[in-house]
Amino acid sequence: MKKVFAAITGVEAYVPADVLTNADLEKMVDTTDEWIVTRTGIKERHILREPGKGSSDLAVPAVKKLLEKTGTSPDEVDLLICASATHDHDFPATANIISDKVGVKNAYSFDISAACSGFIFMLTVASKFIETGTAKKVICVGADKMSAITDYTDRSTCPLFGDASGVVLLEPSEEYGIQDHILGVDGAGRHHLYLKAGGSVRPASHETVDAREHFIYQEGQIVFKVAVQKMADVSVEMMKKHHLTPEDLTWLVPHQANLRIIEAVARRMGISRDQVMINIEKYGNTTTATIPLCLRDYESQLKKGDKLILSAFGGGYTWGALYLTWAYDPDKVV
Ligand code: UT7
Repeated sequence: MKKVFAAITGVEAYVPADVLTNADLEKMVDTTDEWIVTRTGIKERHILREPGKGSSDLAVPAVKKLLEKTGTSPDEVDLLICASATHDHDFPATANIISDKVGVKNAYSFDISAACSGFIFMLTVASKFIETGTAKKVICVGADKMSAITDYTDRSTCPLFGDASGVVLLEPSEEYGIQDHILGVDGAGRHHLYLKAGGSVRPASHETVDAREHFIYQEGQIVFKVAVQKMADVSVEMMKKHHLTPEDLTWLVPHQANLRIIEAVARRMGISRDQVMINIEKYGNTTTATIPLCLRDYESQLKKGDKLILSAFGGGYTWGALYLTWAYDPDKVV
């Protein structure tokens, strides 16, 4: 039997209109544009300010645009998965809410939780449904309203994060698509980057709110070192496994947490900067949305057959890489 690959056949994204610049942050905490740019590469990020709106509201415009762009009727979708670190609610799944809001009625849907590696984990899971013939059209959404869990009085974390969504359609292909994945986790790293309260261990109380425990807690330097090591290791391992030289690889699509991490990973892979998709300066770290947001921004430069490595690291710890071949030429959605 011929092997079936799960190919990305369309990509879209959405960022809210409101922009929070480094100059704005200078007025909110003791920081400077110079510090943020040199330490992270971030110049601005987009924030969903409208009260009562969550990650599903970031996802909906992107999914609607994707359906239109790929000529897909909501009825044709077999499966919709959402990866997020900022689900609308603990339950039900945000994927169900998105399906309802975009009119996807014949699909089953569920959420994936792997923090900043969520998009890689989600695509890996989704690809199995396609490869086994269980599903023909799968929508994978990364959506994060990071501003909901960002402490805008904490200068060590508030410059880093932004709100966005990114979405891809996966369909079967005989030749192109996801060729391989490598995933990893180390739960021992969970205490260095997490939300201390709000879960079953430490439910919300006056005390947890007063202690600001519903905002991101991160030990930046510790996480930085592991992020560089794991993202570089997994990306280099993928190159070796598939005998890819730096010249063979068309693009690295890295999770956008810090420009210095991205540059260190590219150096370890031996690739040049113009082989790396980078847009962190415009959006900051949008968690599960960074990789599809890059694919959307660079879509016009992608060509059928291009060889891509997608690579991420996140809280948990979680990390992973995907090797895929691009399935369509610019402006020719398949
Ligand atoms: O996406 C999931 C995984 N997350 C990551 O990959 C993030 C990994 N970590 C990082 O990206 C970096 O560690 C940060 C960007 C968070 C911080 O950069 P750093 O170079 O590791 O800085 P640092 O935490 O070592 O702080 C250096 C100095 C400190 O001052 P002292 O102790 O040297 O006097 C901080 O207090 O910079 C100070 N600092 C700031 N100064 C101005 C920390 N935040 C700020 C700020 N503005 N916003």
